[in-house]
Amino acid sequence: MRKILIANWKMNPVSELEAIQLAKVSDAKGVVVCPPFIFLNQVRNVLKVADLGAQDVFWENPIPGGAFTGEISVSMLKKAGVSHVIIGHSERRRHLRETDGMINKKFRAAIAFGLKVILCVGEPLAVRKQGLAAAKTFVRGQLLKDLESTRNLKIRHSNFLVAYEPIWAIGTGKPDKPEESAAMAVFIKSILFSKFQISGSRVLYGGSVTSGNVDRILKYDEIDGALVGGASLKPKEFEKIIQITENI
Ligand code: PGA
Repeated sequence: MRKILIANWKMNPVSELEAIQLAKVSDAKGVVVCPPFIFLNQVRNVLKVADLGAQDVFWENPIPGGAFTGEISVSMLKKAGVSHVIIGHSERRRHLRETDGMINKKFRAAIAFGLKVILCVGEPLAVRKQGLAAAKTFVRGQLLKDLESTRNLKIRHSNFLVAYEPIWAIGTGKPDKPEESAAMAVFIKSILFSKFQISGSRVLYGGSVTSGNVDRILKYDEIDGALVGGASLKPKEFEKIIQITENI
């Protein structure tokens, strides 16, 4: 199966022109481009083959709208041509104090109303220092809480991806050892199957992915793609990542 690349632009770039230029080089099959909300329309107009993703969504989805200042609903995203949404990114968990309970509500709204979810999980450094087993226990806890009470929803491998992103590897230039991420991916898939009966789910790796390491990571069959932050903002670098990924 084709490996997936998620381009998470975070709070970048500043101008519309830069967003359009970046979208042009990111437009390849298997790529999901996730710009800030403010550039969704412009990026959608550029993309021909890549999918459009959002970096967050609110859990309430009243139609036509509601009194939730600053928030964006699933329906608004869908109308804007968005197919995917990132939920539970560690930066939001940390800076905005997003809890697993909030993530669970966002997750349920997104799936129920037809968006594909990229759910981010991953352990902090203090946990990983205790070893991979401790990291697995941490990630298992996140999955159980983030996916609680979702059995009535139609979660399938086609509308649900997990991004395993060890927090200490994000933006640090220090990626996880690929063999350990591969072991974590296997573990996550086994939890999804045993606890939620989701089979064939795909698990991506995120954290300091570059053109210099993407092949070593994605050569593992267990890892179904990569969530790329910083390197997705550098046009030449991201083009290289796309090329390498296409040839794996
Ligand atoms: P990074 O970010 O690639 O800059 O480490 C990954 C992410 O978006 O979490």
